[in-house]
Amino acid sequence: MARARDSLEPGTMLDCYRIVDTIGKGGFSLIYLAEDEETGDEVVIKEFMPKRLARRHDDGRLVPVDSKQRESLYRSRRLFFQEAKVMASLQHPHIVAVLNMFMRNDTGYIVMQHERGRNLGQFVHDRGGELSTTLLMRIFIPLLDALNTMHARAMLHLDVKPGNIHLRNGHDPLLLDLGAAQVLTVGGSTASHVITAGYSPPEQYRHGGKIGPWTDVYAVGASLRCCMEGRTPQPAPDRLTEDKVVPAAEQFADLYPHWLLEITDRSMLLNPNQRPRDAGEMLEIMQRNAHPGMRVA
Ligand SMILES: Nc1ncnc2c1ncn2[C@@H]1O[C@H](COP(=O)(O)OP(=O)(O)O)[C@@H](O)[C@H]1O
Ligand SMILES: [Mg+2]
Repeated sequence: MARARDSLEPGTMLDCYRIVDTIGKGGFSLIYLAEDEETGDEVVIKEFMPKRLARRHDDGRLVPVDSKQRESLYRSRRLFFQEAKVMASLQHPHIVAVLNMFMRNDTGYIVMQHERGRNLGQFVHDRGGELSTTLLMRIFIPLLDALNTMHARAMLHLDVKPGNIHLRNGHDPLLLDLGAAQVLTVGGSTASHVITAGYSPPEQYRHGGKIGPWTDVYAVGASLRCCMEGRTPQPAPDRLTEDKVVPAAEQFADLYPHWLLEITDRSMLLNPNQRPRDAGEMLEIMQRNAHPGMRVA
């Protein structure tokens, strides 16, 4: 990948880690491949770098783009550390493992185990969709098990999409990017700061919308559909105006079993009350219908 503006140079030392390369960049972070000089292990380091709010000073430190952004920068940095804490508290074979976190350069770093493999979003894009039922089960059953663990602890991921799913050995899924994750408070949480067109349901856009496990359910349904169709579904606000999403049960009747199409359609309903209520309910339906050999979680 071409070096992103503001990314750290290969060879830079951060604590005991030597930066090897920049492997990703988003609106809020830069992702590096690095090597632990003490153990020789390859790791992935996520650096908090919100491009709207901050830039890198010559000495490596992050500084606000202007003084008016200082408060927003600090608030975002707190949310970034919240992500690290959520990730570190979740130990699940299908949720990315956090090895370390620290502050340096007036910003935060999360160190994760480096996982070989490929990104599901990129893979689906390259293949043009039509992933087999077997592959979908191998990906989505363990993934729903991971989400079920979060939901059972009153946590929401809130940014499930193929781009946040990593495949080890071609099929073994790992849920990444808990940057939008929230812990539900009594009475229900309503604010969400991340929206991804095509995967976020209507309630995630509305101020005061009632988000809950059903919000992740919509995103899982939209991700399943993307794996079938090869493209991101129509964004929820547009669907509310004119719903152009043809039910999967009609569109892909020749390609997938009816029960899988039905759960995909039901998960993507605009009315949250009509969706499966959480990952556990979706998981139960998948496990009940999948071939016994696929019940790996
Ligand atoms: N632990 C990891 N091992 C391998 N690749 C990773 C790892 N974490 C992230 N990546 C790669 O970096 C990309 C961006 O990571 P992500 O956590 O989704 O950050 P962002 O907030 O920028 O979206 C992922 O899509 C994935 O391809
Ligand atoms: Mg991401």
